[in-house]
Amino acid sequence: MTKAPPQKDWMDINEIIGEVIAFLRPELHAERVGVQMQLSDELPTVLGDRIQLQQVLLNIVMNAIEAIRGAGEGPRTLVLRTDKHDAQHILVAVQDSGPGIDAGHLDQPFEAFYSTKPRGLGMGLAISRSIIEAHGGRLWATANESRGATFQFTLPIQSEKPA
Ligand SMILES: Nc1ncnc2c1ncn2[C@@H]1O[C@H](COP(=O)(O)OP(=O)(O)OP(=O)(O)O)[C@@H](O)[C@H]1O
Ligand SMILES: [Mg+2]
Repeated sequence: MTKAPPQKDWMDINEIIGEVIAFLRPELHAERVGVQMQLSDELPTVLGDRIQLQQVLLNIVMNAIEAIRGAGEGPRTLVLRTDKHDAQHILVAVQDSGPGIDAGHLDQPFEAFYSTKPRGLGMGLAISRSIIEAHGGRLWATANESRGATFQFTLPIQSEKPA
């Protein structure tokens, strides 16, 4: 992962999601995870660093697959959703059917070096959050009503490329 200042280019976030899911096909297949895409077709293009946003999505989706792997019996689903969040932001949400996260400790996964995995560095989400914040957005987690967790981020909608 890189922490270089973001290179800003216009991009279609749905396209990046498609690329990341295509790249992770073998892992999704191996873990028998079903993917549901709920991508808005009215999403404005946003300014961002393509590689950095790919890294953020790659880490969030890998985490979701790893969470589902550890969850044992039950549904094995991943929902990828994009939408307008408010007048100024789009929203990208990754919802999994894993064990979820404790509603009282929703920020813990974002702490640097916090990991529950034998070979986890615990940096994925800390870096992802700093990348999203460098883009002017926010990244946070929620506990799903039934089971699993949702990791979601916003990105600002810009009408013109800043100088
Ligand atoms: N979708 C999820 N469901 C449940 N727990 C999660 C989920 N995503 C992350 N976590 C928890 O947050 C911790 C930190 O995640 P993070 O991506 O920062 O590090 P990691 O995956 O452990 O290691 P790496 O640095 O290789 O990404 C994980 O070890 C896990 O305990
Ligand atoms: Mg990770």
